[in-house]
Amino acid sequence: MCGIIGAASSRSVGKILVNGLKKMEYRGYDSAGLILNQEEKAVQIRTLGKVSNLEEAMVQEKPKADSGIAHTRWATHGAPSEANAHPHGSCDNIYIVHNGIIENHNDLREQLTNKGYAIKSETDSELIAHLIHSNKSKGKNTLEALIKTTKELDGAYSIAVIDTDEKGKVFAAKQKSPLLVGKGIEENFVASDPLAIAGLAESFYLLEDGDFAEITKTDIRIFGSDGNEVNREETPIDTNIQEVTKDGYKHFMEKEIYEQPEAISRAVEGRTTEGEVLDNIFGLGSSEAFKNVKRIQFVACGTSLHAAKTARKWFEELCETPCYIDFASEYRYRNPLVEDHTLFVCISQSGETADTMAALNYAKEKKYLGIVTICNVPTSTMARESDWKIFTNAGPEIGVASTKAFTTQLAALLLLACAISKIKKINNDKRANAIDDLHQAPDLVKESFGLKKHIDEIVEKIADKKNALYLGRGVYFSIAQEGALKLKEISYIHAEAYPAGELKHGPLALVDEMTPVVALAPEDELVEKLLSNLEEVKSRGGTLYVFGNSGSKIKIDKGKFMNMPECGYYNAPIVYTIPLQILAYEVACSRGTDLDQPRNLAKSVTVE
Ligand code: AGP
Repeated sequence: MCGIIGAASSRSVGKILVNGLKKMEYRGYDSAGLILNQEEKAVQIRTLGKVSNLEEAMVQEKPKADSGIAHTRWATHGAPSEANAHPHGSCDNIYIVHNGIIENHNDLREQLTNKGYAIKSETDSELIAHLIHSNKSKGKNTLEALIKTTKELDGAYSIAVIDTDEKGKVFAAKQKSPLLVGKGIEENFVASDPLAIAGLAESFYLLEDGDFAEITKTDIRIFGSDGNEVNREETPIDTNIQEVTKDGYKHFMEKEIYEQPEAISRAVEGRTTEGEVLDNIFGLGSSEAFKNVKRIQFVACGTSLHAAKTARKWFEELCETPCYIDFASEYRYRNPLVEDHTLFVCISQSGETADTMAALNYAKEKKYLGIVTICNVPTSTMARESDWKIFTNAGPEIGVASTKAFTTQLAALLLLACAISKIKKINNDKRANAIDDLHQAPDLVKESFGLKKHIDEIVEKIADKKNALYLGRGVYFSIAQEGALKLKEISYIHAEAYPAGELKHGPLALVDEMTPVVALAPEDELVEKLLSNLEEVKSRGGTLYVFGNSGSKIKIDKGKFMNMPECGYYNAPIVYTIPLQILAYEVACSRGTDLDQPRNLAKSVTVE
């Protein structure tokens, strides 16, 4: 899972490539590299760590060329190292950058070694360069050699290629990993994400699986899997993605936390009227199809999975529909039994997560009623492959830790529950409350930002600990899971969430004065039970930090009780998420971690 970009231009492309990589660091940031197809001799620079290291190296070398390709890496085959960084070359002639995984790499390695190719890295990607070279040496031109090569690859790839004999050209191929061709003025591009070429290209063509492309500064040619030229739809670059800056915030994550009121408004806007959800907001024919929904199967990963877990209760209450929820990475391996009239729902910020995509592809072969995708990226593969979809409209989320993607997913899930309940003509009052709550959510989220001051007072008490426990009951257990995930991924403090009632069945043994326990205690039907669970923690010397309502009966030091806004039943899970995000963010800041790009992670996980 990496980011690739290539450019052919009438100007020097070095800076363009590096800037494009910087915008795609969310796809990986353990090493970066580029090759510029200079007139005399191609110049290759590879550096370990972030793109800024590559940028520094560029400043020193000042290479100039009007075409080149570049890559930011998240290691799959081979440790992060300069030798494993892309581009990979063959015989000083063919250079490639690759995103994806080549599954038959062992066979190919053996085959190429037997042919006398010296393989210099531990990567599966390097083999692609040698294969293209080998096919070219059999009398094919570069494009033909690339096409032939892809027939020998099993797996997923987006590839950009330069040939030192073909100055001013970039070649590309796509199979199961995202790739687009961008059209500019006297320059054209290939890239994994439109974000990388925002501000440079005016429009782009999304390549389909099996497509190839050849670009120069003036020409774009796209070929289908049979090698014949094809036309692909031209999409203007969304002007909202032209500038993704921190706007004065210290980190993207911080900015994205505080953008949530507007993001949630955008998720709901134009999809409801007074007290009712509009028809067909998931696409033409969706409302009619939802009439027949008897069960729902959700698949997702990480934060998006927590959204599904939180929303389950809404579907059971509003649509009276049972739900199954699976880790996308596990779903297809349990050979799921699909009952009639089951709706399949994928949730994904990026719409590209390989595990979720694989689950979607598997589901297509099964007798589901249809596939709905809830995602934030309209150009994503999942959006294109689904029967129905809704975009969360959160705006670009750059921080690796999901924040506004999660709360807008909750809003979209509540809209889905309302849409099904409406067509089934059931629970009209509850639905009206849910929609009213959705409209109130942005203001309540804004109000919850006021807790930051209080959270600041507890940050240092958590920042020096090694472990933390998060507790909740009902839907708040899922919110607690999301809070624990936020803390662990950006602060590296080990954090686990439990339904509070489970504590006494094992995890209570972990409670001591060194383990902070964060609890969510809204005044709901389970609060009394929760209070007894929290007493168990207190009596074992645990330090509790509680987020709850002003009327809460919990007896705890004022400094450790965070007074939440008075929320509605349906928007409270959204609002209770906010202080947990702020807590994780502030703790990570205090520990000085790289919290927009935490170690070992990447934003878009496009490998299984
Ligand atoms: C959470 O903060 C992470 N970014 C991660 O768990 C993420 O939610 C997961 O990888 C799924 O990504 P998706 O929503 O883009 O499919």
